[in-house]
Amino acid sequence: MKVSIVGAGNVGATAAQRMYALELAREVVLVDVVPGLAYGKALDMQQAAPLIESDCRITGATSFDATAGSDIVVITAGLARKAGMSRDDLLARNAQTVRDVARQIVARSPNAILITVSNPVDEMTWVTLRASGLDRRRVIGMSGVLDSTRLRSFIAQELHAGVEDVDALVVGSHGDAMVPLVRYASVAGIPVAHLLPPERIAAIVERTRNAGSEIIDLLKTSSAYYAPAAAITAMVESIIRDKRRILPCATLLQGEYGLRDVVLGVPAKLGRDGIEEIVEIELLEEERMALKRSAQVVRDNIARLPE
Ligand code: LAC
Repeated sequence: MKVSIVGAGNVGATAAQRMYALELAREVVLVDVVPGLAYGKALDMQQAAPLIESDCRITGATSFDATAGSDIVVITAGLARKAGMSRDDLLARNAQTVRDVARQIVARSPNAILITVSNPVDEMTWVTLRASGLDRRRVIGMSGVLDSTRLRSFIAQELHAGVEDVDALVVGSHGDAMVPLVRYASVAGIPVAHLLPPERIAAIVERTRNAGSEIIDLLKTSSAYYAPAAAITAMVESIIRDKRRILPCATLLQGEYGLRDVVLGVPAKLGRDGIEEIVEIELLEEERMALKRSAQVVRDNIARLPE
């Protein structure tokens, strides 16, 4: 298996390092237009091989030619959010970049599965779909796994519970309109509503909604990257190892959840062919309305995308 990562910034490089250390693929390729950046980081990682005991091959390049024949390509290219910047400020700038990257990638890896990470991610996943011409099962946006791991980690902290027992699902768009489905959150199978009072749950949900901004405000010149990289890696692992994990993924909806022609985060089974199944779960009226509002935010942005 060959995995390529476009963009050797914090998110791309950290994801590459993680996959390399886990030996998830035979070959990991890191690409960046900035001369030397991807090559330098890949060299640095490669020199750690004897210590971390990875026989995976890692290379860095400036040319998309190095990505030829990839099974999975992760797109992190574009500007990251900085303090005071909304994900939507990035819309027009990153749309151009992601469109160009997607075209370059499919020209060299027509059978790849693409994972879009660049923000605003739902809209950029739409752009990737359109520019690549690939089936919707092979173009997946990463956000729900990140938002869900944030929610899970906050629940675990609050309850002093082991993280692996905590499960939670965040759907909808990546941003203020995300839809944390706390009703489905559980600790060792026990619904969180049985373990925490409503006001604590509300506070945790609010912190999850603002988790990306909380980190940007602290780091000033960068957005989050450790948790995003871990989220990307979990998705890549489910695909490469055909684990068929149910993970929230940004995907093109064609009638699921009563929504059509919009990219939105929903639970999906990830396996060797990409999205094997979109899992439709029952939603309460208020949850359905929240998802609809989330879809409207993405729809409005898609309408504003430059031609
Ligand atoms: C976050 C930003 C990068 O959620 O979208 O961390």
